[in-house]
Amino acid sequence: MSMQHNNIVLVGFMGTGKSTVGRFLAEKLSWELIDTDHYIEKQEEMSIAELFTKHGEVYFREIETRAIQSIMVKSNQVIATGGGAVLAEANRVCLKENGFVVALTASLETIIQRVGGDRNRPLLLGKAAEIVPQLLQKRKHAYDFADYTISTDRLRIEFIAQRLLVAYR
Ligand code: S3P
Repeated sequence: MSMQHNNIVLVGFMGTGKSTVGRFLAEKLSWELIDTDHYIEKQEEMSIAELFTKHGEVYFREIETRAIQSIMVKSNQVIATGGGAVLAEANRVCLKENGFVVALTASLETIIQRVGGDRNRPLLLGKAAEIVPQLLQKRKHAYDFADYTISTDRLRIEFIAQRLLVAYR
């Protein structure tokens, strides 16, 4: 499928560094950074955690799909998606049609270290050490559709960005 808009899309499990890498890349390219979770929080005027509590995950997924469709209508953006954004086929298609999709990965240990104690990740219920392994297993192949995959475990962000841009260009 040919690309309709030219963007860089970061996908990956919670805690793989999508927001951090996204911020760095956007700065480097002088592109706009869109974090889908922040986009949704601004639009709905509540945190992701509140959104899940008040309306549930199904509602959140609907909003997320709509957000992705509104975001992917222009070029030169770095888009950091939520970890579950790729679960819907429609989202995968939309992201891939309008961007170079990069999957960030990290080991179980790194992920737990990064997300442990985070109160704005409702799926973890404050029990990252128990939930993350199960969810990781369940989503083992969720990010396979990406154009490029890179680990964020040890590498410095400059190297991650550099390698990613070489693949993109
Ligand atoms: C989710 C990941 C979160 C956020 C929501 C659901 C998921 O984003 O969208 O809590 O299903 O993996 P991050 O990957 O930025 O934590």
